[in-house]
Order: sequence, then structure tokens, then C-alpha cells
Amino acid sequence: MDKLIIHGGKRLSGEVAVSGAKNAALPLLFATLLSPGPHRLANLPRLRDITTAERLLAGLGAEVDSSNGTLKIATEQINSMEAPYELVRTMRASVLVLGPLLARYGKARVSLPGGCAIGARPINLHLKGLEAMGAEIHLENGYVEASAARLEGARIHFDVPTVGGTENLMMAATLARGTTILENAAREPEIIDLAKALQGMGASIEGAGTDTIMIEGVDDLSPMDYQVMPDRIEAGTFLVAAAMTGGRVGVKGACAEHMEALLSKLEEAGATVAASPETLWVEGPQEIQSVNIKTQPHPGFPTDMQAQFMAMMTLGNGTSMITEAVFENRFMHVSELQRMGADISIEGHTAAVKGVSALHGAPVMATDLRASACLVLAGLAADKTTEISRIYHLDRGYENLEEKFRSLGADIERVPEQK
Ligand code: EPZ
Repeated sequence: MDKLIIHGGKRLSGEVAVSGAKNAALPLLFATLLSPGPHRLANLPRLRDITTAERLLAGLGAEVDSSNGTLKIATEQINSMEAPYELVRTMRASVLVLGPLLARYGKARVSLPGGCAIGARPINLHLKGLEAMGAEIHLENGYVEASAARLEGARIHFDVPTVGGTENLMMAATLARGTTILENAAREPEIIDLAKALQGMGASIEGAGTDTIMIEGVDDLSPMDYQVMPDRIEAGTFLVAAAMTGGRVGVKGACAEHMEALLSKLEEAGATVAASPETLWVEGPQEIQSVNIKTQPHPGFPTDMQAQFMAMMTLGNGTSMITEAVFENRFMHVSELQRMGADISIEGHTAAVKGVSALHGAPVMATDLRASACLVLAGLAADKTTEISRIYHLDRGYENLEEKFRSLGADIERVPEQK
């Protein structure tokens, strides 16, 4: 297992290119199950979660051929309907095969994902929606077994806006008989990206990006030819790194429109934000202002940026109240930040982060993807040396993270754990 060694205290400066978005690419990959193809997906990030999705598709019988960030995929020969536990366990987004398999083949067997480091994360709303569309669903031996002759359009109201649930049902509805209306749907940019790709395949979808999405089912879809949107969370991670090290960083290809909540909080914290058509720039303040955040479904502040923003707030000039309102257990980075000298106390879903004058390098351990990113940022701003172990979490969601940070002047190195 590798670890990262960071000698902190350098101001980051320069320009870095954003990669394709993991959380857009995953549903797009599974949407290829909706038509035989051949499909073409460009700007795919090279990440462990993407490889897992490719393995899952290959296990179902798809032919997958990837080179230079472009994936060619044919799903003519799908001969298995099962997403096995080994894959779903390592990547929860695997449950997104459910909608497409049911819609095109009338059956699917998908392992229940179980809880994970950031919360229980049930898929009850995905299943309830598919049942409303006429699917028969049984839970057996830890697997969801679903079948339907042909899915029927339905009006589905989500109790909470779920990103994966909206994606699963939107995909299922493209081939259902009749009209499906998704209410209280998630509004994340990744939902819009998926809708655009499906529209390119001939699907009839209106309202993606609002809380009501209407899908008129069609009999079949054509191949997908699509370019994955830029990763707003990766971009945000670099921008917060710039702000908290007092540097100036441009992220080429980042889309400011996808990141309004974060950018406005960065400005409130004293950073300067400037956007040109190609690049989004952030310059750090002399003194970081402590600001409050509360995570919310899009367009609110993204839960996937909460940990990184907290790293910055540890160096604020007052107290920042950070409330996590999307997941129940997404504060595992707090105890590691405390080991680096941060002053944080948690009460329920809120962390009170009292700014300190400096963070100090320490050995720390990553517990999930964004918590790992938070520790990298803390290490970049801290004095002395930070060693981060269990960085395989980072490889699930950040492409060439240390090379990108090095190109901005960071002193960061990946070494085998035993070294
Ligand atoms: C997506 O997860 C992202 N993953 C997550 O990214 C992200 O944190 C999350 O959306 C919220 O923005 C992918 O896109 C692959 P949800 P998802 O369903 O779809 C509850 C990262 O770091 N809920 O929107 O699984 C759920 O427990 C990650 O890249 C139900 O109760 O999230 C949570 O509290 C991690 N029942 C809330 O809804 C359901 O059936 C939002 O979850 C589904 C969800």
C-alpha cells in the first residue's frame, strides 16, 4: 500500500487541467447497457472507480476497449444480469446497473451495497421507484432480484433528492412504456450530463437540472457518443488548496456555473475568484475569514467539498460552523485534523472549527475519498512533514493528484508504505 509524504508550507501557484468527472462518468458507463452500441465515451478520468465499472460491464458480457481517455464499448452480447457483491462492495455506484438492465432485459440481480464509511446510504428510493414502474423486487441472500416484462411509466416522488436514485430511474424510464415523472429529483450537474447523453441516444427527457424530470419512454435507443463533463469536485479541491496556502491557481476546463455555492463561500472567506472562458482562478487571502457552511443537495454547498473546506477553515480567523446535512457520518476527517493541531468540536451534525495559527505535519490516515483529499490539503498548508496512509481511497476519485499538485509547486511524493 502506498502513502503520501508532503512537506507543507508552499504557496501553490500555476495552472492545472481538470479531469473528466467521476460521478458523471459512472452513470454514463452504465447507461451504455440501454442500447447495443457501439458506444464512445471521451474524457473519461483514469481512476480506480472507472476501472471497477469497466470490470463490472465486462463481467456482464460487454466488450470494453479503452485508450487515451476514450472508451469504446459494445453491449450487444450481455449474457449476465448480475452485479456481484465483490464489485458493489468496492463501488456503490454499481447499483446503477439496476435501472438499465431492467429496462432493456427485464431482469437484474444486484448485490445490496450495505453501509459505508460516510453513512448507511440505503437504496430504498431506487427500489421504490422501480416498483412504481411495475418491477417485482425481492431481496434474497443480500441481493436485489428484480424483474419486469416491460417497465411502465409512473409518477415518482422522492422523499429526499437522491442523485443515484434519480439517475437509475431516469435511465430505466427511457425504455419504459409511457411517461415517467420524477418529482423532488436531484438537480446535480451530473444529472444534466446524463440526460444530455441519453437525449443524444434518442431518449425524450425534459427538466433535468430542475426538481421535476419528465421522461417519455421510447422503444429503443441508439449508441452513445459523448464527452464527460469536467469534475467540479476535483476542480474545487484545487481551488481550496490555492486559497488555503495563500497561492494563486487556475483550473483549466473547470465550469464556474457548476460550482457557485463553493465559489461564493471562497469569496466570503476572503479569496479572489476570477473566471476566463477556459480557466477558473482563485487567489488566497492574506487572512482566511471563518465562514459557516451547511451541505445540501445541489445547488447548495456540496457534501463532497465539506471535508476540504473544513481543512481550510482550521486556519480561519474565528470560528466556522460546518453542518453536514446530506450524510449522517461524514466527519471522520475531524480526528485526523485534530492530530495536526486543528481545534474542532462536534455536536450532532455540526462541527465548530476554531481557527488556529498553523497546522503541524503528522502521520494521518485516510478513511474515505474526500476525507483523504482534506488531509492532503491540510498537509500542503501545514508546517513540517505529513504522511498520509491508506491513500487507495484517493485513487478512486483523483487522477494523478500528486503530479498535479507537484506541477503547482507542492512538495508531495508517493512512496510504498514499507519504505
Ligand atoms: C452521489 O452518491 C455521489 N456518488 C456521492 O459522491 C455524493 O456524495 C452524493 O451523490 C451526494 O451528492 C456518485 O455520484 C457516484 P444520494 P449517492 O443518493 O447517489 C439518502 C464522492 O465522494 N438516500 O444523493 O449514493 C442517502 O443516504 C461521493 O464522490 C436514501 O435515503 O447519494 C443520503 O443521505 C461519495 N435512500 C442522501 O439520500 C436512497 O434510496 C443523498 O444520497 C438513496 C439515498
